Amino acid sequence: MRFFIDTANVDEIRIANDLGIICGVTTNPSLIAKEGRNFEDVIKEITSIVDGPISGEVKATTELAEDIMEEAREIAKIHPNMIVKIPMTEEGLKATSILSKEGIKTNLTLIFTPTQALLAARAGATYVSPFLGRLDDISQDGLNLIADIVEIFKVNNIESEIIAASVRNPIHVLECAKLGCDIATIPYKVIRQLIQHPLTDKGIELFKQDYLKVFGK
Ligand code: G3P
Repeated sequence: MRFFIDTANVDEIRIANDLGIICGVTTNPSLIAKEGRNFEDVIKEITSIVDGPISGEVKATTELAEDIMEEAREIAKIHPNMIVKIPMTEEGLKATSILSKEGIKTNLTLIFTPTQALLAARAGATYVSPFLGRLDDISQDGLNLIADIVEIFKVNNIESEIIAASVRNPIHVLECAKLGCDIATIPYKVIRQLIQHPLTDKGIELFKQDYLKVFGK
């Protein structure tokens, strides 16, 4: 399983990129709004930091297929690594189908059922983004959704890649990796949780004390 970072904060993206663990970035309208910066400026800066797929979503107010396609073509022009993120709706599927024939890569987002993922793949989505944390929030098992999509894509030889999104904790990451999910897009906070372990910190401290006792510095 590969890692993307789920943020529009360029400082966090720089740190994660320097760690060598991420190979892509996902953003959404809420994450862009949180930064309070112009969409194109942020996206351009992100493409200058990470050399990999960068998902930029159409505006939250864009609903019709024609409008989604018009905006998608502009997003795709920003950089060759751009992936256009499109919500899973009838209009979104229609736009995805045409855009895929034009060679524009898409990421179908707000996927909450395995069959939504299958439809998105059949429409030509490059990536599908099931949201596991938001299902957990309403007492439905988000990891079951990932398991079902992994199985369906495998038995049907589907090439669209699965990006586990709405990842909230290290257990989500662990289980997605065990399930064979292609990618997990994770917030910076979860990346830090994955790196740290109290016994690692304790071990470093012990090594330091033992070393200093003998060598003094
Ligand atoms: O990028 C979409 C997704 O990861 C959002 O996560 O935590 O807002 O449900 P969350």
